[in-house]
Amino acid sequence: MTKIFAHRGSRGTHPENTLAAFQEAVRVQSDGIELDVHVSKDGALFVIHDETVDRTTNGSGSIQDLTLEEIQALDAGSWFDESFTGEKIPTLEEVFQLLQKLNFKGELNIELKTDQIEYAGIVEKCVALQERLQPNFAIIYSSFNPRSIIQMKQLRPNQEIAFLYETVEMANFVFEEVKFEAVHPDYRLLKESFEIHSQYPKRVWTVNQEEEMKHCFELNVEAIFTDYPQKALELRSEIKE
Ligand code: G3P
Ligand code: CA
Repeated sequence: MTKIFAHRGSRGTHPENTLAAFQEAVRVQSDGIELDVHVSKDGALFVIHDETVDRTTNGSGSIQDLTLEEIQALDAGSWFDESFTGEKIPTLEEVFQLLQKLNFKGELNIELKTDQIEYAGIVEKCVALQERLQPNFAIIYSSFNPRSIIQMKQLRPNQEIAFLYETVEMANFVFEEVKFEAVHPDYRLLKESFEIHSQYPKRVWTVNQEEEMKHCFELNVEAIFTDYPQKALELRSEIKE
């Protein structure tokens, strides 16, 4: 059965990559949760999609130029809806703690956002956090930058990593040093993904339309990432009945 991953939390109904969005993803019983990680000026791991805070907060500037204190002072909820005023850009540690508290037992996909900025130490920091907190949920690392997941695998050989891509050129990248466990293709590359990576489990992004969800369920892909996990879960159970 195709798993449902809440993309950036439940991004269609809540401000993306906030604790409110992750709480909603757990509430609707998503099988998995996806989030994005960057590093602040003073080395903290923050969960946000863009390299800057401009689109999703009341502030401006690049994560790499802002300190933990400056980032934590920002409002990351009101841009989405007034009712979410006060939501913050969470640290990765805060997300781990929330998921532990909610007894989340699914899979957490951490996307290392190193395709624009190759943050120094991001891989080591994630590993250190994971080893310190020992979460009860499974973790899968992915990145558009193959170097980041290769480094992860070298540091932690039993760690699951997934090859994330959005072009045919990227899909054809050859991993010589390490093995990956799954692929995360753009939905538009589904056909190519079945050709190039026939043997690999496929988690497909970002699947928001009902027809596309049904298509993925019919193909029995490993998982879909969706901004609407509740809708996808309902559709999946309707089809099963
Ligand atoms: O990891 C799948 C998907 O999240 C990649 O695209 O831009 O939403 O991070 P993006
Ligand atoms: Ca992502």
